[in-house]
Amino acid sequence: MLWLHIDRSLDISLKKQVYEQIRTRILQGELTAGYRLPASRELAIQLNLSRNVVIEAYEQLLAEGYVKGRQGSGTYVAPGAYLERDLKEQPSSFLETHRDEEKEKDEIDFRSGIPALNHFPKKKWGKLSKQVCEEASNADFGYDNPEGRSEFRHVLSRYLKRTRGVHCHPDQLIITSGATQGFSLIANLLLSPDDRVIIEDPITHEIQTIFSSSGATLYPVPVDEDGMRTDLIPVDKKPGFVFVTSSHQFPLGGILPIQRRIQLIQLARKLDTYIVEDDYDSEFRYDGEPIHSLQGLDPERVVYVGTFSKILSPSLRLGYLILPPVLTQQCRELKWFFDLHAPSLEQMTLSRFIHNGSLDHHIQKMRKLYVKRRKILKVCLKEEFGDRVSISGDSTGLHLIVEFKDVQFDEGMLSHISRYKVKVYPVELHSIQKGFHRKKLILGYGNLNEEQIREGICRLGQALHRL
Ligand SMILES: Cc1ncc(COP(=O)(O)O)c(C=O)c1O
Repeated sequence: MLWLHIDRSLDISLKKQVYEQIRTRILQGELTAGYRLPASRELAIQLNLSRNVVIEAYEQLLAEGYVKGRQGSGTYVAPGAYLERDLKEQPSSFLETHRDEEKEKDEIDFRSGIPALNHFPKKKWGKLSKQVCEEASNADFGYDNPEGRSEFRHVLSRYLKRTRGVHCHPDQLIITSGATQGFSLIANLLLSPDDRVIIEDPITHEIQTIFSSSGATLYPVPVDEDGMRTDLIPVDKKPGFVFVTSSHQFPLGGILPIQRRIQLIQLARKLDTYIVEDDYDSEFRYDGEPIHSLQGLDPERVVYVGTFSKILSPSLRLGYLILPPVLTQQCRELKWFFDLHAPSLEQMTLSRFIHNGSLDHHIQKMRKLYVKRRKILKVCLKEEFGDRVSISGDSTGLHLIVEFKDVQFDEGMLSHISRYKVKVYPVELHSIQKGFHRKKLILGYGNLNEEQIREGICRLGQALHRL
C-alpha cells in the first residue's frame, strides 16, 4: 500500500496532489527503481478519488520519465530518477557520538559513566529473557500501565529499601527510560519558566540542558570535596527544586556528609520545595559501606532518581523515580504522555534478575573489577606524572578526578591530546560558572581494561611531556 494524503480543502487540484507526492518520494529515494505503483483502480478506491484523477497523475509521471509503464503489468518507478540530496554540514550537536564503533579505531576513551560493557551478564540475562518470553501471557505483550509493571515495582522497592535505605511503597515508583527521562519528567512536573533550580556546579551539561530547556534559570552552587556547599544556597526565593548528586557528586566525586544532608532537608522544608536526589553511582562505593539515601531522611521532600545504566547497561534504558505520594498521579499521567510506559519484557526480566539474587552477585563482581581498575589508574597516574597531579573523587563510582598543577585543559590542549589517540574530558565542560576547574580532568575507567588504562595514561603522558 502507498500512503498518500489528499486534502480537499487545498487550492491544489487532486491530480496535482497525487502527482506531486509520488514525484517527491521518487526523487528522495523513498520509492526506488522497479517499485510497482498500485493499480490506478486500487489507489483511487484507497484515496476515495475518481479513477481518472489517478490515471492522469500517472500519465504525467510517465511523460516526465519518473515511471515506466509495462503493458499489462503495471506502472514501475524508472531507474535514474533519484536525486541524492546535497547535505550541508549539520550544525554540531551538544550530544557526543556515543557508539564505540563510531569512535576512531584504536583511540582510548576515558569517558565517564560507562560500565564494563563486555562484563554484561549475557548468559544469565539471555536465559531469563527466554523464560520471560516463553512464560508471558498474551496480555503481557499488550500495553501496560504508565508507572511500570507491578511485580517489578514490588521487587525494586524491596531492593532499594535493603540497599539504599529508601522509604518507598511500590505505588511511589515510576519506571522510566533511564535517569535521563526521570529528569525530563521532573522538569515538566515541578518547573515553570520563571522558576529557579538550585543546582550543583559543576554538574553534567546534559542535566543542565534538560532543566534549562523548561525555561527555568539555573542557580549554581559551588561544590567542594564533600559535595554541594549547602551553606551557600540562597534563601531569598523558593526554588522549583534543589538538585543534588548526593552519594557521588558528578563530576567531582564528593559524598555529601550527614550534616549537609540535614541542612539541605531543613532548607527544603523552610522554602517549601523539593530536593531531587540523583543517586546514579551509589552502588560502587569502594571505601566503606554505601551511604544511605537522602530520600530515606524525608520521603515527603525528596524525589529520588535511580538508574540501571551503571550497574547493568545503559542500553537497557531502565531507570526509576521515587516520588512523594502527592506527586505520583501527575507523574503517571506525564509518563503516559511521554511514551506510554517502559518496555514490559525488560522489566519482567529485570524483576527476575533482582529477585533471584543475580543483581547483587553482579554488583559484587563488578565492584571487585572496578577496584582493580581504579588502583591501576591511580598507580599509572602517579608513575607518569608524580607530584604534578593530585587525585580525588575516587571513593565511589566509575571515574576519578585528576588535577594538574601546570596544565590548563582548554580546547587547544584537548585537540593536542587527541592527536595521541587518547580522549579525556575536562571538568570545565560541566561547569556553569567558568574558570574554576580548568586544570581538572574526569577519567572514566569503568569500560577500560588494565592494558587500555596503562596505554591511555602513557599516551596522555606523551602528549603532556612534549608540550
Ligand atoms: C549525573 C548522572 N546521572 C544519571 C545518569 C544516567 O543516565 P541514564 O540512566 O539515562 O543512562 C548520568 C549519565 O551518565 C549522569 O551523568
